[in-house]
Amino acid sequence: PKDQIRFDGQVAIVTGAGGGLGRTYALDLARRGAKVVVNDLGGARDGTGQGSATPAQKVVDEITAKGGEAVASYDSVATAEGGQNIVQTALENYGTVDILINNAGILQDKSFVKMTPDTWQAVLDVHLNGACNVTRPAFSVMREKGYGRIIMTTSAAGLYGNFGQANYSAAKMGLVGLMNTLKLEGRNHNIFVNTVAPLAASRLTEDVMPAEFLDKLRPEFVSPLVIFLCSERCPVSGHIYNAGMGSFNRAAVITGPGAVAGDPESIPTAEQVKGTLNQIQSLKDGKEYRELNEQVADVINAFSRPARDNGESADSKKFTDPA
Ligand code: NAI
Repeated sequence: PKDQIRFDGQVAIVTGAGGGLGRTYALDLARRGAKVVVNDLGGARDGTGQGSATPAQKVVDEITAKGGEAVASYDSVATAEGGQNIVQTALENYGTVDILINNAGILQDKSFVKMTPDTWQAVLDVHLNGACNVTRPAFSVMREKGYGRIIMTTSAAGLYGNFGQANYSAAKMGLVGLMNTLKLEGRNHNIFVNTVAPLAASRLTEDVMPAEFLDKLRPEFVSPLVIFLCSERCPVSGHIYNAGMGSFNRAAVITGPGAVAGDPESIPTAEQVKGTLNQIQSLKDGKEYRELNEQVADVINAFSRPARDNGESADSKKFTDPA
C-alpha cells in the first residue's frame, strides 16, 4: 500500500539489538527495507562477562533468513572507539547511516548509599556515554548528507524516579538533555532526534513484570512508535514518548508562569519567596519551551512592562550585559 512506511535504500544502526527491544526494532526496520547494523556486545544483564558474538549474529541470521539485509557489530558502545567502529561498520558495508537507535543498556541497581563509584560509572558509560559515543560519528555523517533520524532510549525511572536506580535514572535523564540540544543542532540538517521510554518484558525487566500481562508486554507493542519516529514521515523532533502494551503518550518538561517575588526593583528575600510559593510552584497555564532562549525571554519579559512604562526598553542585550 502507498501509505506504508518503508526504509528502502536506508541504513539503520540499532545498538543492543541482540535481544529484547533492540532485536524487535532491527527486525521491523529490515522487514520494511532498511539495511541494518545489528550491534550487541553480548554481555550479561549487568554488563559483566566476556561478551559474545552470538546474540547479534543470531538476529542477523533471522533477518537474512527472511530476505532482509543486516550485518553484525560486536563493539561496545561504552567507549568512543567502540562507537566509532559501530558507525564504521555501517559505512564500510552500506556506505552511509540514516537512522540510529540508541538502545543498548545494562542495569546495576543498588540503593544510593551502597552504590559504589564503579556501579555508577558502569551504567553511565553504557547508557549516556554510549549514546554519545555512537551518535557523534553518526551525526557527522547525517549533517553531511542533510538527513537523519535518531532515537534515544530513556526510562520512566529517569523521567519520574525509581527507588534503587540512581545511576540508571541519572543516565536516562541525561539522554533527554542530550536530545534537547541535538534537536537544535540537527534542525537545519533535517536531523530529527526523539526519545522513547519503553515498557516491555525483556531480560532487564522480566522479573518485575506482572505475569498476566506478559503477552501485551512484548517489545512488538513498543516498536511501531519507534519505527514511525525513524521514518521520513516523522514530523517531530525533541519529543519524549512513553510506549508500552500498545499504549502511547507524550511526556514533557512543563514550566509554570511563576511570579516575581517581592518588589521588582529590589533583591527578594527568602521570606518573600516563601510568601509567593503558591504562584511559583503552580503549573497552571504552564508551557513547554522549545529552547533556552524562549525561557530566558520570558524571564526578561516579566520585567519589561514596568520598564516600558518608564519609556525604556528592556531587551535581552540589556539583560545579559548589565554593565
Ligand atoms: P535487553 O537486556 O534485552 O537489551 C539490552 C541489550 O543491550 C542487550 O542485548 C545487551 O547485550 C546490550 N548491551 C549491553 N551493554 C552493551 C554495550 N556496552 N554495547 C553494546 N550492547 C550492549 O533489555 P531491553 O529491555 O530490551 O532494553 C533496551 C533498552 O530499553 C535499554 O536501554 C533499557 O534501559 C531501555 N528500557 C527498557 C525498559 C523495559 O521495560 N524493558 C524500560 C525502560 C527502558
